Amino acid sequence: MSEILLQIDGKEVKAREGMTILEAARGAGISIPTLCYHEKLEPYGGCRLCIVEVEERGWKKLVVSCVYLAEKNLVVTTRSGKIDRIRKMIIELLMAHAPDSFELQNLAKEYGADRDRFEKEASFCIHCGLCVRYCAEVKKKHAVGFVDRGTRKEISFIPEIAAKECWDCKECFPLCPTSALQAAFVLTRALYSPLPSSEPESEE
Ligand code: SF4
Ligand code: FES
Repeated sequence: MSEILLQIDGKEVKAREGMTILEAARGAGISIPTLCYHEKLEPYGGCRLCIVEVEERGWKKLVVSCVYLAEKNLVVTTRSGKIDRIRKMIIELLMAHAPDSFELQNLAKEYGADRDRFEKEASFCIHCGLCVRYCAEVKKKHAVGFVDRGTRKEISFIPEIAAKECWDCKECFPLCPTSALQAAFVLTRALYSPLPSSEPESEE
């Protein structure tokens, strides 16, 4: 795979063709905040927090760095007053759903976001999709999925699959930037008796 050269925050950065701007930046030690990105998962571009500005042939535009491919001679800016204002707004909107998320609180500190700017609609899930996609793409189990649409969209465990697959796995738990996933799992376990409540039954 051929190598390309681009500029990120004034630094010359080498990337392989097919890499995203986010991957190229991280490879060069330049950090860009993310909420829905995971290196083992297909690019998703859901949260928009990783937005950056690119300049090509004199044209500037904002792009989502976890899905936008690095290109030869691209000039990328990962931080500016404009980018910070957009990230601040995204964080504030997400905090209306998950005001107690440590990850969001840390981001709020960095970007000066006000956790109380928008009316609370505490759903706890910020729809990053990490749990759903990890279970489907990495574990190939599909034990958790999204149900409903729009403002009513939420994650839900499929009890029949969760009863067989989740107890010994739970690899999605640490990926969740809020407490929504663990809460949904506890609820599913409480509602559906086939899910073990303490220890899994040993299989003979
Ligand atoms: S439960 Fe957590 S990991 Fe799953 S989509 Fe919601 S915020 Fe993301
Ligand atoms: S990390 Fe890029 S859109 Fe979420």
